[in-house]
Amino acid sequence: MFIKAGLITLALLLPAMASPVTEGLGTRVTFDKRDGITTQDGWFDHKRAVELVVRDRNKHRQNMINLERNMGREAFNEGAEIMPLANYSELAPHDKRQAEPLTDEAGDQYWAGTIAIGTPRQNFLIDFDTGSSDLWVPSVNCTSAYCSKKDKYNPASSSSSSPKNGEFSIQYGDGSTVSGPVYTETVAVAGITVKNQYFSPVDTISPSFGSEADDGILGLAFPAISNLGKSPWFNTAKSEGAVKNGVFGFKLAKSGSELYLGGTDSSLYTGAIEYHPVTGSGFWQIKGASILIGSNTIQSGFQTIIDSGTTIIYGPPNAVAAFYKNIPNSQVYDSTNGFYSFPCSSVPSNVAFSWGGNTWTISAANFNFGRVSATQCIGAIAGQDLGLGKNTWLLGDSFMKNVYSAFSFDANSVGFATLK
Ligand SMILES: *[C@@H]1O[C@H](CO)[C@@H](O)[C@H](O)[C@H]1NC(C)=O
Ligand SMILES: *[C@@H]1O[C@H](CO)[C@@H](O)[C@H](O)[C@H]1NC(C)=O
Repeated sequence: MFIKAGLITLALLLPAMASPVTEGLGTRVTFDKRDGITTQDGWFDHKRAVELVVRDRNKHRQNMINLERNMGREAFNEGAEIMPLANYSELAPHDKRQAEPLTDEAGDQYWAGTIAIGTPRQNFLIDFDTGSSDLWVPSVNCTSAYCSKKDKYNPASSSSSSPKNGEFSIQYGDGSTVSGPVYTETVAVAGITVKNQYFSPVDTISPSFGSEADDGILGLAFPAISNLGKSPWFNTAKSEGAVKNGVFGFKLAKSGSELYLGGTDSSLYTGAIEYHPVTGSGFWQIKGASILIGSNTIQSGFQTIIDSGTTIIYGPPNAVAAFYKNIPNSQVYDSTNGFYSFPCSSVPSNVAFSWGGNTWTISAANFNFGRVSATQCIGAIAGQDLGLGKNTWLLGDSFMKNVYSAFSFDANSVGFATLK
């Protein structure tokens, strides 16, 4: 059973102080979070984790295909490539822990809030994804079981719908694609209404989406990785003047999560936001990162992509192996998918990333994906080549939950601040 818990609060805030990219009135979307990788009784859900690895790999494979098509190969990071399609049946775990009972909500690890499409409004529960750039929701033509619990868009009951040429299609490794026609529509998020937004009402979704509470995805990354090759929703909001500032901010937490559109919500963080310039053209990518354990720098000088649509933190397999060498009594748990375990009695609470300013620590709770035996637990950092570049890490929610994060198109930068 899934509870559609996303809700919108429209709030007028006092102008934020200090930093030039934080001022202005914005609106907030609040939403709920349930973890999918850890079962309610604290076990690592290996099968679900591998489903997510496959999805993350194929999502970023598609991003690279889109980037090549939109910008050419010269936009690739050094060593980046279009990886082969990842295939769940080849990567699936075969260990006995699969019998561990799952809770009803275990499949739902996304941050979901409500958006409205069409005139009159049709509501959808959406995963806001800083790691992709397209908007899709199921359409009335999605009649498979995977769509049975979803809200479905019907263009026939909207006076603002307009069919366009082309086809939207993202391949997933579970033997299916998410695909559908292309439309423009009026799309409202938290009181910010955008007209003529390109999106896809999809008629097929892949099985791994079927079990989730959210209906679709709203991509918040750059136009360069758009599959539709069109302006993503937030960029359209900025160009149409629906938001004054091209800045949004995330707080991701077990409860009280919020996406703030058109600025940052200074009631949620203390101190200044530490901004770093975006490198490259498609992703919220910043360079010069280090990973530390306590005061020891384990790796440094790498690129990082900040991806709210991904739970796991991925690094290059060799770098991640070197990292776990510094976690006492850690060992490889699943070499195919890059997961490591360590003693549950000593979950690291001092793993941190830094971009030369503050060190941003991952709490023990956020580092621990759950137990796989009486004594061993799985870490949130996995070794995996996603094709994003040879020295590139992808920081998902397990990192983002520890900080307030700000994404500025205006200043072309990503920033972090200390959560209140
Ligand atoms: C649904 O399918 C019908 C028949 O193929 C097609 O005419 C219609 O445009 C489709 N609607 C959407 C939203 O894809
Ligand atoms: C995945 O791998 C299995 C086993 O090798 C193969 O039978 C299947 O066709 C593959 N599926 C896809 C979508 O590539």
